[in-house]
Amino acid sequence: MALIMRKLSLLAFLLFGALAAATSASRILPGGTSSMVKRHKEWMAQYGKVYRNATEKEQRFEIFKSNMEHIESFNARKHEYWLGPNQFTDLTNEEFNAIYLSGYKRSTSSRATPRNFWYENVSVAATNLDWRSKGAVTPIKDQGQCGACWAFSSVAATEGINQIKNGKLISLSEQELIDCDVNGQNQGCNGGLMDDAFKFIIDNGGINTEINYPYKAADGSCNSNKESNSAVKISGFEDVPSNSEASLLKAVSIQPVSVALDGGDPNFQHYAGGIFTGPCDTELDHAVTAIGYGINTDGTKYWLLKNSWGTSWGDHGYIKMQRDIDAVEGLSMALIMRKLSLLAFLLFGALAAATSASRILPGGTSSMVKRHEEWMAQYGKGYRNAAKKAQRFEIFKSNMEHIESFNARKREY
Ligand SMILES: *[C@@H]1O[C@H](CO)[C@@H](O)[C@H](O)[C@H]1NC(C)=O
Ligand SMILES: *[C@@H]1O[C@H](CO)[C@@H](O)[C@H](O)[C@H]1NC(C)=O
Repeated sequence: MALIMRKLSLLAFLLFGALAAATSASRILPGGTSSMVKRHKEWMAQYGKVYRNATEKEQRFEIFKSNMEHIESFNARKHEYWLGPNQFTDLTNEEFNAIYLSGYKRSTSSRATPRNFWYENVSVAATNLDWRSKGAVTPIKDQGQCGACWAFSSVAATEGINQIKNGKLISLSEQELIDCDVNGQNQGCNGGLMDDAFKFIIDNGGINTEINYPYKAADGSCNSNKESNSAVKISGFEDVPSNSEASLLKAVSIQPVSVALDGGDPNFQHYAGGIFTGPCDTELDHAVTAIGYGINTDGTKYWLLKNSWGTSWGDHGYIKMQRDIDAVEGLSMALIMRKLSLLAFLLFGALAAATSASRILPGGTSSMVKRHEEWMAQYGKGYRNAAKKAQRFEIFKSNMEHIESFNARKREY
């Protein structure tokens, strides 16, 4: 009886609480602001946002409101693409650029265009290609507030060519590049270049797995044991001729390719689907990976790009960007040049040579780490930093152990 009473009073409390909340909510601010307050609150809950005090919350609310208004007024007109709220919606575009578009450093040395581009004689027959459907793309990763897009871009290209050459999709370590590729131009969370990352992987004799050398979203010191434990090797890389979409198409038809683009526009910050047609500037500031191409039903051609901002940005973490803009006739040259650099291709492909992951850590914790990684991939989970991830891993592990020890005994359920 006591137990029943306790359960009943819990129910009663919940009901009462709901009524009270409804009453007070209706007496807050009237009209649009009130519903925007509610949306901000829901958004905060969804992305686990916490503000330090009322002043900061008020400030962030104003930015959120202005972003939401932009998103809605843009979506109300018909475009090739649409916008939506995501984890960046309480940031101004300036803040967003400073935090998330600081990772691609333009090379200080001029890029030598190869005399004989590897793929110059490739003829591309297919109108659509998606390397995901061929198993050459790992799940979307999340770089967090660390300007290491260059590492994610080069790792994704390496993961792709390894799967194509060796038949195994192995998630590889961005953290190794951040921690260990520090003797050239690359600067970890402060930015870097994909060509230098490829050079590092070649000189180092390969790169370790994500599981063995996991991501921390922060600079760290190089773990030389892990650095010397390579799962995948590449034998070389090559730049695709700049500003040539035809060359890029040939390269992407053979393998995923690292590319740089300009992501500075507010619409890039809130891109949520469709084919992104700009606007954009010519300042290359972000690295991603081209993993396919296609043509829309209305004839618009696009590149399919993998980003590293988690799955809540973009189209589940991906973006389609307009392609073959240089084919447009009758535009002024300046406009064509500007649009080209939207897609702005300083491109690299990594060509891998053999070897496979044989040295993954043995033992229980490692396999639990692996299961956690797989679980994260399955449910599209991303953690803000290594500490959060470690904390969640411990909870995951404890829950898994409970599940398994429970299931090991015979029960009704
Ligand atoms: C509120 O937090 C902001 C940002 O952390 C800080 O700059 C400001 O001084 C705080 N204001 C008050 C009244 O505590
Ligand atoms: C492409 O074909 C031309 C003409 O046959 C040849 O000279 C050139 O070496 C080829 N390029 C490559 C990269 O194989």
